[in-house]
Amino acid sequence: MVSYKELGLVNTRAMFAKAVKGGYAIPAFNFNNMEQLQAIVKACAETKSPVILQVSKGARNYANQTLLRYMAEGAVQYAKELGWKRPQIVLHLDHGDSYELCKSCIQTGFSSVMIDGSALPYEENVALTKKVVRYAHRFDVTVEAELGVLAGVEDEVASEESHYTKPEEVIDFVTKTGCDSLAISIGTSHGAYKFKPEQCTRDPKTGKLVPPPLAFDVLKQIEKKLPGFPIVLHGSSSVPQEYVDIINTYGGKLPDAVGIPEEQLRKAAKSAVCKINIDSDSRLAMTAAVRKVFNDKPGEFDPRKYLGPARDEMEKLYKHKIVNVLGSNGKA
Ligand code: G3H
Ligand code: 13P
Ligand code: ZN
Repeated sequence: MVSYKELGLVNTRAMFAKAVKGGYAIPAFNFNNMEQLQAIVKACAETKSPVILQVSKGARNYANQTLLRYMAEGAVQYAKELGWKRPQIVLHLDHGDSYELCKSCIQTGFSSVMIDGSALPYEENVALTKKVVRYAHRFDVTVEAELGVLAGVEDEVASEESHYTKPEEVIDFVTKTGCDSLAISIGTSHGAYKFKPEQCTRDPKTGKLVPPPLAFDVLKQIEKKLPGFPIVLHGSSSVPQEYVDIINTYGGKLPDAVGIPEEQLRKAAKSAVCKINIDSDSRLAMTAAVRKVFNDKPGEFDPRKYLGPARDEMEKLYKHKIVNVLGSNGKA
């Protein structure tokens, strides 16, 4: 058993309490490789933002769970080298799908886990979440649960239909399970195609899709039922159109990719939403930068020469999210 505390990591408890009170949200960035992790740590160290490093199923399949956990341990040391005296870094399992997986992450140094029982019938979601919470709390590891279903097209997290979280269920769910935070469904979804064109209007000037607003009324009702309780938003990439345009200009094909407008995320961050998950935007930043290098310098074959610019672009993106969208700068 390796405790996250020995690795210099923290759980989400104090972080979330402070964020809910302060009207900002903690960034939860997924990482799969060294460049993403370097960019995240640098952005957070420079802005003094607390951060949640997320490991998904796709990341574990790609990079290996053990390697990712050692990278997170390295991230704490790297943050200190960058002058961040007491780094506020959480290592979090994203979309855990079983008790066994949560247990193995807790035993190897994760400080937070998500048990995603959102696709299960209500009572089964309650039972599974409760079992994970009971185990996790023995080690002071915090647990995120989910109620409601997000629509999406992500590799490993796919659902045809979305179902908003039912406000009338949240008190019962949180009381019975003892979870520390709750991911809800109010219209966000995973990936770079969050809405079908027929769900959007089109800006006559740019021809770009304008997505429908999130269900803030549902969020409000949930907040009323659970005052001060930490709420999580998945699927919160905004799919920056500058990246989509660069990708499409340099040989990519992402027609009608659309995300959640940043003003809406800013509004959510001021509420009880205290964790905002962003993965796709980092993928887009990286892809745009790599495609541009390949276009501008066809003779380049040193990975450092295209992954380096990709890393710089991701760092810029993370800082932008922290400072201009979530408001978590200076909070660590
Ligand atoms: O929640 C979904 C994340 O974007 C991770 O997706 O399993 O393809 O890494 P992934
Ligand atoms: P995006 O696909 O919108 O970045 O969402 C990521 C996410 O929710 C990870 O759990
Ligand atoms: Zn997610």
